Amino acid sequence: MIVNKNASLKKLNTFNVDASCDVLVESSNTNDLLEVLKNKELNNKLFILGGGSNILFTKHYEGTIINLKEESIKILDEGPVKVQVEVSAGMNWHRFVEWAVDKDFGGIENLSLIPGNVGASPIQNIGAYGVELEDVFDSCSGIMIDSLDKVNLSKSDCEFSYRSSIFKKKLKNKFIITSVRFNLTKSNHLYNIDYPDLSNLSESGLDLKKISNEVIKIRNSKLPDPKQYGNCGSFFKNPIIGYSKFQKLKEKFTEIPFFKTDSNYFKVPAAWLIDKCGFKKINDENVGVYKNQPLVIINLGNASGNEIINFAKRIKDSVFNEFDIELEEEVIVM
Ligand code: EPU
Repeated sequence: MIVNKNASLKKLNTFNVDASCDVLVESSNTNDLLEVLKNKELNNKLFILGGGSNILFTKHYEGTIINLKEESIKILDEGPVKVQVEVSAGMNWHRFVEWAVDKDFGGIENLSLIPGNVGASPIQNIGAYGVELEDVFDSCSGIMIDSLDKVNLSKSDCEFSYRSSIFKKKLKNKFIITSVRFNLTKSNHLYNIDYPDLSNLSESGLDLKKISNEVIKIRNSKLPDPKQYGNCGSFFKNPIIGYSKFQKLKEKFTEIPFFKTDSNYFKVPAAWLIDKCGFKKINDENVGVYKNQPLVIINLGNASGNEIINFAKRIKDSVFNEFDIELEEEVIVM
C-alpha cells in the first residue's frame, strides 16, 4: 500500500485536470483497504477512484482518495454453455473484455474499449451498442464503509437503471465494490448487432472478435482519445421525456431522432440536442465539444475543472432554452 499526502490527481483522471487531495492511497488488495478503513486518520471522507474516466474534479478534495490496483480474474463455474467469472474491482475494463473475447466467452464484446475499471462498471451500469452491464451482471462483493461488514449484492439489490444504480443513490459513498461476478456464455452466444452503428456486420460467420473489433473501430472514429483531448466520454445522459413533451418537440423538429423506451417515454440523443444548439462551432478558450460526438466535452489544453463545468452549464442552459429539456450529468462532479 502506498500513501501520499497532498497528492496530485492529474494523472488519475482522463479529463487531465489539475486537482489534488489530502491523502491518496494506492491499495493492492482487500486487506490494504480494510487497514485504511480501520485507520482513523486515513478513513476521512473516503472516495474510491477507479480509472478516473467518469469524474470531473473541480476543487481540491479534502479527504482520502483510494485507488484500487488489484487486477485478477477467476473462473468460478464453467459448464458447456455458461461460465461465471469473478473480477477484481481494480481490473481495467477493456483488459477484461479482451481476456473474455480471447477465451471466446460472450456477453461483453459490445462493451469493448469502454474506459475505466471493473469496480466502477456497476455504479453507472455502463452501456454501449445495445448492451448494458446489467445484462451480464451476476452479483458483486464489497465493504460497508461504516460497519466494515463484507456484503454480497445480487443483481436485484443493485437497482440498475439507465446509467444508474443503488451505488449512485442509497449506497453513494457508503459501499466499496471489491469484486464483480459476471455470467458469460461459452457457446450459443447471443450476438447483439441491432444497434444501427453495427449494421456493417452480418450474421453469417459472426464471432465475438469480429464484434469487438467493429466496436473498437467505431469508438476510435467517434470518440476522442483522452491522450489527445482530456475527456470523460458522454458528459450527460440521454434525456428520457414523456409523451406530451415529445409530441410537441416532434411537431417543431420533425427530424428529431428518438428511441421509444418500454412505457410512454422517449429517449432523445443529447448529442443531437447539443449539436442543434450549435456547440460544434462554440467553444471557450480551453473547452469545447468533440467534432464527431458533441455529447463528449473535451479539454482543449489546460482547462481547469471549473472551466469545464462552466462550459457544461452553458450547454445545459442552451438546451433548456431551446428544447425545455434539462440535461443531467452522467459524469460525477466533485
Ligand atoms: N448525433 C448528432 N450529432 C453528432 C453525433 C450524434 O446529432 O455529431 C446524434 C445522432 O442522431 C445519433 C445520436 O446522436 O444517432 C446517437 O449517437 P450515438 O449512437 O453515438 O450514441 P449516444 O446516444 O450519443 C450512447 C452512450 C455512449 C455509447 C453510445 C453507443 C449515453 C449517455 N452515451 O451515446 O456511451 O458509446 O451510445 O452505444 O448513453 C459513455 O457513456 O461515455 C458513452 C460514450
